[in-house]
Amino acid sequence: MARGRFISVEGGEGAGKSTNIEGVRARLHAAGLRVVVTREPGGTPLAEEIRQLLLAPRDEGVCEDTELLLVFAARMQHVERVIKPALARGDWVISDRFTDATIAYQGAGRRMGVERIQALRRLLLGDFAPDLTLLLDVPVDSGMQRLAGRGAPDRFEMEGREFFERVRAAYLQLAAAEPARFRVIDAAQELPAVQAAVAQAVEGFLAQGTTP
Ligand code: TMP
Repeated sequence: MARGRFISVEGGEGAGKSTNIEGVRARLHAAGLRVVVTREPGGTPLAEEIRQLLLAPRDEGVCEDTELLLVFAARMQHVERVIKPALARGDWVISDRFTDATIAYQGAGRRMGVERIQALRRLLLGDFAPDLTLLLDVPVDSGMQRLAGRGAPDRFEMEGREFFERVRAAYLQLAAAEPARFRVIDAAQELPAVQAAVAQAVEGFLAQGTTP
């Protein structure tokens, strides 16, 4: 049986990932593919517990390396228990965020250094990576406006504008460095236009063939 393909969806806060992930899922489903939709941090009961630990605002300052290792702890559980088994049985996997988020948020946002994160990624994941990454790119101000009114901010949403500017710039840099894997979607457009761009990216990927 052909291995499934792995699609990640990335973007800053308020980029509209959830709505567009549903669009991608529906499109793949219509193409007759079995699809698993999952997310990071999270995707397994243990990894979802780690997500709670990561997102909860707390008085205790969280050390950068603690945050980084929690992110990767959740990821390894997710990769080994959910993503790899799904791909092996021929399912397609859509993950709301993957390792590019760590490079953007911890590497650039927290200024831990992109190379440091890449080294950890290579150590733990080798060459395991998404086959396609949709980057929903939106100017920081618009993203933050969309977030307003969504309830109490989590520990990341409490960060300032400069943090999110670094995150956005890092994502765009990653996309420029790996144009074969990334499709950058202008997510500042009206929703129908964003959805059309996402659909086009997915159709293009499907047209490349479904065998690795
Ligand atoms: P969400 O906004 O997609 O629900 O993701 C939760 C938060 O986790 C988001 O603010 C980004 C952050 N995050 C990281 O900082 N590093 C990571 O590797 C991942 C996957 C998420």
